[in-house]
Amino acid sequence: MYTQSFSVADAPGQKPAAPTLSTENPEEMARFDARIDADGRIEPQDWMPEAYRKTLVRQISQHAHSEIVGMLPEGNWISRAPSLKRKAILIAKVQDEGGHGLYLYSAAETLGTSRDQLLEGLHSGRAKYSSIFNYPTLTWADVGVIGWLVDGAAIMNQIPLCRCSYGPYARAMVRVCKEESFHQRQGYEALLVMMTGTEAQKAMVQDAVNRWWWKCLAMFGPPDADSPNSAQGMRWGIKRISNDDLRQKFVDATVPQAKVLGITLPDPDLKWNEARQHYDYGQIDWAEFWNTVEGNGPCNKERLSTRVKAHTDGQWVRDAALAYTRKQQERAMKEAA
Ligand SMILES: [Fe+2]
Ligand SMILES: [Fe+2]
Repeated sequence: MYTQSFSVADAPGQKPAAPTLSTENPEEMARFDARIDADGRIEPQDWMPEAYRKTLVRQISQHAHSEIVGMLPEGNWISRAPSLKRKAILIAKVQDEGGHGLYLYSAAETLGTSRDQLLEGLHSGRAKYSSIFNYPTLTWADVGVIGWLVDGAAIMNQIPLCRCSYGPYARAMVRVCKEESFHQRQGYEALLVMMTGTEAQKAMVQDAVNRWWWKCLAMFGPPDADSPNSAQGMRWGIKRISNDDLRQKFVDATVPQAKVLGITLPDPDLKWNEARQHYDYGQIDWAEFWNTVEGNGPCNKERLSTRVKAHTDGQWVRDAALAYTRKQQERAMKEAA
């Protein structure tokens, strides 16, 4: 979801400034560039330009925040899942997303930013997360559509990140992508079952697709022409495929799945282009995208306050875990003495 970070600054109301290239250490810089050119990996202990470090902290932390906030729209359906089977699947999926957030915070910490600093960014509203999670989940069909389309778009974005030049991020993505694949399939399967049901169930699926389709296309970030920082991300081997190319891959993969499902994608301009060998599609509403990024989407405030409350309510767990660790350490020291 998360190429958005090349296009979305953390500071409110700003587009991200282009990263300034470092002249801090020409010899180290040459070594770094050679490693990137050879498609090698950069590890935490390696020298890296400050702009590369900052860009990665922003990208990985926005990604981590997205996983954590992404638990909320689906989490509120766990108690309302239509069967024990669906409840068990949804609990597993939401738990996976929490795990993704934790691997990614750990990856960001290897760049020298503490967990507390990262969380403070999210909780104060300064740091961004994927705007797709600022929309409400109105019916059970939304849970299926999120799996099919939102996790489907996340996979498109994240598969290339398995080859990211920063080692800890790339390695985290390998496991994350395997789990995202399960998320996509469970969503699609839930929708297939609903589409064999009553007319009301079919209408519920179509309505959910209508509400999520365009927002999912926007998940890939603004058009390439409006993403000046993407080129630097590509140069550094962080971003491998442009926003528009990823979006096209997603559209091409999803149209045949929509046919099998028996729903209509809400775009009158969506049609196969024989010359391009791709589907053409209509205009995305970027004003709505930026408005949501700026904090004015339907659920921005609710998501943030729910997250802050969950963190505050969990303080006693963290305190207890720390007290327990301290006690264990004291005991070990006493025994060693
Ligand atoms: Fe995830
Ligand atoms: Fe997922």
